Amino acid sequence: MKRFVDLAEMPRDEVLALLELAQRLQKQPEPHALTGKILGLVFFNPSLRTLASCQTAMLRLGGSSFVINPGQGSWLLETRDAVVMNGAAAEHVREALPVLASYCDALGIRAFAEGKDLAHDLAETTFGQMAQLIDKPLINLESAANHPCQALADWKTLNDLAVPRAARFVLSWAWHPRALPLAVPAAALHMAAQRGMDVTVLRPEGFALPPAIMERARQAAASSGGSVRETSDRAEALEAADILYVKEWGATSCYGDPAADAHLRASLTDWCVRADWFAAAPACRVMHCLPVRRNTAIADAVLDGPRSVVQLQAHNRLPTQMAVLHQLLKP
Ligand code: CP
Repeated sequence: MKRFVDLAEMPRDEVLALLELAQRLQKQPEPHALTGKILGLVFFNPSLRTLASCQTAMLRLGGSSFVINPGQGSWLLETRDAVVMNGAAAEHVREALPVLASYCDALGIRAFAEGKDLAHDLAETTFGQMAQLIDKPLINLESAANHPCQALADWKTLNDLAVPRAARFVLSWAWHPRALPLAVPAAALHMAAQRGMDVTVLRPEGFALPPAIMERARQAAASSGGSVRETSDRAEALEAADILYVKEWGATSCYGDPAADAHLRASLTDWCVRADWFAAAPACRVMHCLPVRRNTAIADAVLDGPRSVVQLQAHNRLPTQMAVLHQLLKP
């Protein structure tokens, strides 16, 4: 494995092997597997789990890491090509990323969607351009439309809970004060489809996931024996659901227009997951990648109750990150 940027690039069997490795490393640590190896981490956006799990994974495998937060203690980096750099950015990624890559054995990059142009973000234009500048193993720590590290941890969480392959998986939109990127919903949808689950995307009108994301998931489902559909009917979607994966995202019908997005979501505050959502799904578990805003996306009683598995999801970021690094860097 030369890079870990998209679960869809990996055949299902390879994902399963990576999950087995995560399970093995969880039970039988290999504290010297990556002795002398260095992971460089570039975070253009904030993080808690991804940053801490990457650094801890390296340490637990005998390696080390460094972190760059552009503009916070290091130069602000320009990512756009062919711009006159007379603004705040002092350095271009064209110089900075090859330099950083030369100091380490693998590089991880987090660069969220710009949220202005849907086609630009779906094409992974910024992440793709940066990837071309790096001649070392690369990890996607969340790009405009993908979060494979989260998706791998979510898959492991489903396995840990012995959720059947064909179980009912509902990915539901939830309320948030502003538009959030499509990376996690896209990755969670694809993961469930690739796993072979019976997937429903539940979202209000105006918040449908882009056709390209839905089509990619349908193709994954077709080859794994799963299915993918979408609806705005909450009661129908949640009936007998096994998993409710909750996520906030921006309105795709007015992408890049914060005022129109705010207008659309103003009447949707009831899309906060509460106990009464589960009347017809008594055994349903609740997943969320975190961070989550309490009582906006998910009510306290649900987050703190027995159906919530968000802590297990977050915990699984560590063994799955160890597996990815082991696979990329072990001599
Ligand atoms: N789920 C996730 O990626 O968390 P962080 O943004 O805290 O890294």
